[in-house]
Amino acid sequence: MTEQRPRVRGRAARALLGAGAAWLAATALPAQAAEELTLYTTREPALIQPLIAAFSAQSNIKVNTVFVKDGLLERVKAEGARSPADVLMTVDIGNLMDLVDGGVTQPVKSAALESAIPANLRGADGQWFSLSMRARVLYADKSLPLTSFRYEDLANPKYKGKVCIRAGQHPYNTALVAALIAHDGEAKAEQWLRGVKANLARKATGGDRDVARDILGGICDVGLANSYYVGQMKSAKEGTDARKWGDAIKVVRPTFANAKSGGTHVNISGAAVAKNAPQRANAVKLLEFLVSEPAQALYAQANYEYPVRKGVALDPIIGQTIGELKVDPLPLTEIAKYRKQASALVDKVGFDQ
Ligand SMILES: [Fe+2]
Repeated sequence: MTEQRPRVRGRAARALLGAGAAWLAATALPAQAAEELTLYTTREPALIQPLIAAFSAQSNIKVNTVFVKDGLLERVKAEGARSPADVLMTVDIGNLMDLVDGGVTQPVKSAALESAIPANLRGADGQWFSLSMRARVLYADKSLPLTSFRYEDLANPKYKGKVCIRAGQHPYNTALVAALIAHDGEAKAEQWLRGVKANLARKATGGDRDVARDILGGICDVGLANSYYVGQMKSAKEGTDARKWGDAIKVVRPTFANAKSGGTHVNISGAAVAKNAPQRANAVKLLEFLVSEPAQALYAQANYEYPVRKGVALDPIIGQTIGELKVDPLPLTEIAKYRKQASALVDKVGFDQ
């Protein structure tokens, strides 16, 4: 779940930072903001701070941000009814569902959130909302004549000894296996895991960027990894390892064999309003701001993520190398139902052994 230090650039970002600086200057005076809220987040401070500054400038709501590295659910649970948390923000559908299942979120009804976020990317009862997306895409050796790819193809024996991927138990991969179970059933998902395992060029370990590294190194030809790493690597300084890895690959957006719509598997960053939020109305205001156009543009520019809101420009590198995303229409809640089953399957086939 590593996140690179995000970059802040572009017109939207400068506007946001300008607004944030104005707010900071204003709050340097003894006068206190009339309103406030508390945000618990597992995300990188450098990504979140410009968003928060812009929100405060626009709303005059002061945000107390608590950066929680691990144990977000445990912390909020332990705080119970006295928790100061208003908004809970994290990455991965599994983590969000854990918050919902752990009983620390509450339902929210908001026309702004519902119109900005497609229905398959939020909880049916407003218990959680996606704020940005990352696609699980194929990294391939540049010389391969690949223009389309199905996730199921990765188990094809023609890729024997040619596949690199991180651990099957990593949430990025268990979410994908859960999606395969949802699409194809458990038996086929197991078969897929066995097929991919048989095709591995090396142990399933390391990180997503290591797929690109090992394609450059001639260890493998193909592998699955997250989309934002492509932006990170291809924008790295000329001559650095990361840049060489990024320049060695081409990227294809895979689809599922049996899915009529031909969409790609995505995971998300998202947020929920805390069950015991002392500032519930302000919490909803923050979520609504985060799916507004300027905030969504910053998600794209600062961390190479896909905006959830339609019509927001992609980062140019992502636009050129991966392109507009057609998202698998299966609701994320449907995928999340199978994540424990997916994790058990990964163990059953000894994927990471
Ligand atoms: Fe990551």
